[in-house]
Amino acid sequence: MKILTIVGARPNFMKAAPLLACLRRRGHVPQLVHTGQHYDANMSDAFFRDLGLPAPDRHLGVGSGSHAQQTAKIIAAFEPVVLELAPDVVVVVGDVNSTLACTLVCSKLGVPVAHVEAGLRSRDRTMPEEINRLVTDCLADLLLTPSPDGDENLRAEGVPPERIFHVGNIMIDSLVAHLEAAKRSDIVTRLGLPSTGYGVVTLHRPSNVDDPRTLAGILGALREIAADLPLVFPCHPRTASRLAAAGGADGLLVVEPLGYIEFMALVASSRLVLTDSGGLQEETTFHRIPCLTLRENTERPITISEGSNVLAGTDPQRIVALAKAALAKDPASRPVPALWDGKTADRIVDVLESWWRTRSAS
Ligand code: UD1
Repeated sequence: MKILTIVGARPNFMKAAPLLACLRRRGHVPQLVHTGQHYDANMSDAFFRDLGLPAPDRHLGVGSGSHAQQTAKIIAAFEPVVLELAPDVVVVVGDVNSTLACTLVCSKLGVPVAHVEAGLRSRDRTMPEEINRLVTDCLADLLLTPSPDGDENLRAEGVPPERIFHVGNIMIDSLVAHLEAAKRSDIVTRLGLPSTGYGVVTLHRPSNVDDPRTLAGILGALREIAADLPLVFPCHPRTASRLAAAGGADGLLVVEPLGYIEFMALVASSRLVLTDSGGLQEETTFHRIPCLTLRENTERPITISEGSNVLAGTDPQRIVALAKAALAKDPASRPVPALWDGKTADRIVDVLESWWRTRSAS
């Protein structure tokens, strides 16, 4: 079976790496295409290095642009590549523009697609990723979900149950595999963070950083929290340009984006995370570190019902009040959600192999 995996943006790398490693371990020869949606050394190369990802077989080098431009560039660049490599199945992960664009190309060419992290829904179509999730899941042949809500969403949308597989959270495979390396990292001391504790901030959603008033409100809340708990803010390039326009983020320790292992080390030792990321809601749930999600909704409700996540929205007073409440109480010690166990890649390969056997026999 010729299996081609797609990566494009930072949150794809930690989902593809365990799958590629598992495929190789089980005797497959997987191929990898990088669309180049993310291209800065600290948004891409650092992750290839930290996660032991092989050099991609093809790099499409599409770079940044409006959603239409970026998606169109990926579609145009990927079509000849998929025709040339002729995979039996293409694996896409997550919900970025690369996920959508490559799925669309495969669907038109009749190449089967497996979507890892299928079924998540924020029910907020102003969020670019929600559109990507809906279209990808509508077109993909195999839908591999991280949590039972994903299965329910897909069934409610009319996806035949035989195409849905609850395999668990593959991002946790990467987390588990690199826990020891993260423990050896000296990033906390190198950044001069106090032993009494600190919090971690990440922000990059257009809805939070593109509107100067929303951004100013969030920064005000962060400044207030930082008066009690030092906050370190590894800053996405898109946010960095917005921060510069907003006159900086005084009171916060703003640093360049970190590689996977250093960032995991930073989060693992923190007392509080404030974020608008999707993946970080899951990583904090795994570590049971209180997480305030600075959004009005989440496509990952299990991180609230079974994890340490709270939807804080963007109202500054509410953010400050929730941060104080989170710091005042001991995080509940709960089991992590089912199948967030570091073995998701194996379950995905089981699904692919069984699908291939059935397909070859018919
Ligand atoms: C993308 C994903 C988002 C994911 C995020 C993680 C989509 C729709 N969005 O958002 O789901 O959470 O990645 O980072 O696919 N830039 C650089 N260097 C880079 C990459 C980006 O400078 O290596 C800057 C460019 O100015 C670019 C902007 O960041 O225009 C936004 O990049 P883009 O890939 O369009 O979206 P993200 O906000 O990174």
